[in-house]
Amino acid sequence: MIDFPIEETIRKRSSIRTYQSKALKNEIKTQLLDITARTENPFNTKIKLQMICKTAGPENEKLGTYGVIKGAVDYVTAAVPNSQEALLALGYILEIFVLKAAHLGLGTCWLGGTFNRGSFAKAVHREENEIIPIVSPVGHPAEKQGISDRLIRTFAKSAKRNPFESMFFHKDFSTPLTKEEAGLYEFPLEMVRLAPSASNKQPWRIVKNGRQWDFYKKRSYGDKMGYDIEDVDLGIAVCHFHLALQDKGLQGRFIKKEIVNKREADLHYIITWESV
Ligand SMILES: Cc1cc2nc3c(=O)[nH]c(=O)nc-3n(C[C@H](O)[C@H](O)[C@H](O)COP(=O)(O)O)c2cc1C
Repeated sequence: MIDFPIEETIRKRSSIRTYQSKALKNEIKTQLLDITARTENPFNTKIKLQMICKTAGPENEKLGTYGVIKGAVDYVTAAVPNSQEALLALGYILEIFVLKAAHLGLGTCWLGGTFNRGSFAKAVHREENEIIPIVSPVGHPAEKQGISDRLIRTFAKSAKRNPFESMFFHKDFSTPLTKEEAGLYEFPLEMVRLAPSASNKQPWRIVKNGRQWDFYKKRSYGDKMGYDIEDVDLGIAVCHFHLALQDKGLQGRFIKKEIVNKREADLHYIITWESV
């Protein structure tokens, strides 16, 4: 069961890159992992999050984050197969962790990249076919964020989001959806709009077709990273949508339709929410 206020938590979360060097208490780690273990995701893949501590391990391993993260002691990650369903499920479940952490006053920051080699890989339990697509620090934010944080935020325009009408559509991609047409669904769509995404690209697109809300991924990254990081972004967006629906008592189910989108080559169908 989700035990934090959805809108308030989604609005208050932002990426934190500078931390106090203070380890999390075990009971906090347990709370964070418990809520993710209890939460189902609509992508038919179970995700087991792992927490690692920078000071743990045989040789006090230094966990590399390319210098972006300062001061963090605890990290969360998961080893998953390199499949679309697993990356979507990872986005969904890790976002539950991130939001619960934000509710507890803790900072996080999604970090994409492949952490299969080096210190993270050594600290994580991983099967041969699995990759480590994401890690995030989790901890007490420092009072002042560092210069690299401010630079990244400015570069990625982190505080901004695309307008509603540019991401949500009615029947096809040529007709923007107005907030009036969205009706009760304006809230879940707004919660999607506020989601974090890699380089703040916001690759989610949603098309309303009667009772159905079709989610698409607008690809811009390609396969540069060895896995599709935008699938993780879509998992996060579906998580925000689903939490907001539950919050408002809007009933329905996720289905997968047979959609082959030939006309819009950079748009990839992901999943549909069908209301009852
Ligand atoms: C899947 C994913 C990967 C990300 N990778 C990085 C990263 O490697 N380095 C980084 O500094 N921020 C990373 N971010 C954070 C984004 O830049 C950030 O979410 C976005 O700019 C919006 O800012 P906000 O999270 O403060 O709302 C990532 C976010 C997501 C969702």
